[in-house]
Amino acid sequence: MCAFLVCNEFFPRIFFAGEGSRVKVMVFGGTGQLGQSLVSVFSDDHETCALGSTECDITDYEAVMSAVYALGPDLLVNAAAMTDVDACEDAVERAFAVNAIGPRNLVLAARRLGIDLVHVSTDYVFDGESAGPYDEWDAPRPLSVYGRSKLGGEQEVLRYERAYLVRTAVLYGTCGDNFARTVLRRAVATEENFQVVEDQVGSPTFVPHLAFALRQLSVSGKYGLYHLAGTGSCSRADFARAVIAASGHDPARVMAVTTNQLSLQPRALRPKQAALTCRAWRLAGFSPLPPWQQGVQEFVDEVSPLLSRV
Ligand SMILES: NC(=O)c1ccc[n+]([C@@H]2O[C@H](COP(=O)([O-])OP(=O)(O)OC[C@H]3O[C@@H](n4cnc5c(N)ncnc54)[C@H](OP(=O)(O)O)[C@@H]3O)[C@@H](O)[C@H]2O)c1
Repeated sequence: MCAFLVCNEFFPRIFFAGEGSRVKVMVFGGTGQLGQSLVSVFSDDHETCALGSTECDITDYEAVMSAVYALGPDLLVNAAAMTDVDACEDAVERAFAVNAIGPRNLVLAARRLGIDLVHVSTDYVFDGESAGPYDEWDAPRPLSVYGRSKLGGEQEVLRYERAYLVRTAVLYGTCGDNFARTVLRRAVATEENFQVVEDQVGSPTFVPHLAFALRQLSVSGKYGLYHLAGTGSCSRADFARAVIAASGHDPARVMAVTTNQLSLQPRALRPKQAALTCRAWRLAGFSPLPPWQQGVQEFVDEVSPLLSRV
């Protein structure tokens, strides 16, 4: 693969990785855990440009337009978001700026160039009161500022007829901070038992599985709303036990508690049952993502050689 720098006065740090004649993809949030995986997956057969907030702040309309005009992409992918769910409670304006106005700016840029947009949203748009998993036709009712602002972003993106909107859940991979890495770090670093909540159920999603599916979707022409998450669901406590067991440690070290029993109460409410079923994805003829347990095994296999750096 060749990489070349697009050096101009506005974007000295931006580069495209890949060869000159192929489809150009701009990944906003390219420094995040999903963004890094997307850049790696798209770089196989696309010219790919990764942008963090330093390269382009998506809340800034002019910055988005200049970046897009300067680089002339064929596809925009938005993995940028304010993802600290508790911090969003104290920074409402910022959360809506990044999670709702940011996607609006990307829609405006994509529309101007007449190109496709892939946007990523969250299971936290649901209230978690459903008895079973949520599909794409269930009504959102977010409980938190994060969830409301991400729903705002969805509303912006759904106005664009060339958009792929994907809700995912409980992301984990070998880059960035995530629950699975935190659990593994604790299991390796200490002998102590630790508490994990059992009253939050979701569909853990191994980031590379999602990134491959997003690339597949992005060339399909099947625009619209999809759920894309690891197949199945589990509580946080069961997820932690699976990670620990797969790494050869004792899963009994996980002490299941309810959210109310936590000594430090989180700022934001979380949905209790936010499992996703990928009904629209299956009906569109795509293969489901692997079961979440397979993702855990692949994660542990990938991260084990690096355990001291987890
Ligand atoms: N993490 C999960 O469990 C989870 C679950 C469901 C859905 N999602 C969704 O999945 C997507 C990716 O999440 P993630 O976990 O990969 O996020 P992440 O690791 O927190 O990365 C967030 C990315 O957004 C960028 N960013 C933040 N503010 C920005 C701004 N104003 N302008 C431009 N870029 C900005 C960050 O850039 P800097 O590095 O420069 O700050 C970073 O690259 C998000 O849409 C999130 O809502 C995540």
